[in-house]
Amino acid sequence: MLNSNQTLIGTDEQTDRRSYLAWLMGLCAAGVGTVLALPLVRFLLYPIKVKTTDLKWSDVGPVSDFSSLNAPVQRSITVEQIDGWRKNVSDKVVYVTRNAENGLQVLSAVCPHLGCSVQWRGTLNEFVCPCHSATFKPDGTRTGGPAPRGMDTLQSEIQSGRLMVRYQYFRQLVPGKEVIG
Ligand code: FES
Repeated sequence: MLNSNQTLIGTDEQTDRRSYLAWLMGLCAAGVGTVLALPLVRFLLYPIKVKTTDLKWSDVGPVSDFSSLNAPVQRSITVEQIDGWRKNVSDKVVYVTRNAENGLQVLSAVCPHLGCSVQWRGTLNEFVCPCHSATFKPDGTRTGGPAPRGMDTLQSEIQSGRLMVRYQYFRQLVPGKEVIG
C-alpha cells in the first residue's frame, strides 16, 4: 500500500515525463515549421534577388528590310520585361533610321520632354512631337522646341539576319540620357 509521500513522488515523475514530452514535441514542431517555411521565404525573397530590369531583345524585323533605308520607318515591337516573378509584355513604337555614319540605329518614339509619342513627318523631313512641337532631324538630333535633348537611341544589333533592339525608358526633362528602366 502506498503512503502519501510515495503518491506525491509518483505524481512528480509523471509531471516531469509529460513536461519532457511536451518540450520534445514543441522542438519537433519548430523543426518541421522551419523546414516548411524555407520554400515560402525563398519565394518571397525571389523578387528582391532578381534584377527588375531584365530586358530581353525584341525583334524589329529582317535587316534586309532596312538595307535601302533613306528615311525613318516606324515599327511596333513586342517588349518582354521581367519584374520580380511577374513578366510584363507590351507593344512599343520605335523608329529605324540612319545615324551620322550611315549605319542603322533604332530610336525610341518617347519624347524626352514630357513623354508624348514623337511622329515622323516625311513631307517636312523631320520628327515632330504633337504635344509641344519639339522637332528632331531624321537621325534624332534635336532642332527645336522644349525637348532638352535629342530622341533616345536604343541598344541594337543584328542577330541571325534580324535587327534586334533592347527597349529601355529614359528620364524626361534632363539634358543627358539616363536609363530609368
Ligand atoms: S512632350 Fe514632346 S515636346 Fe512636350
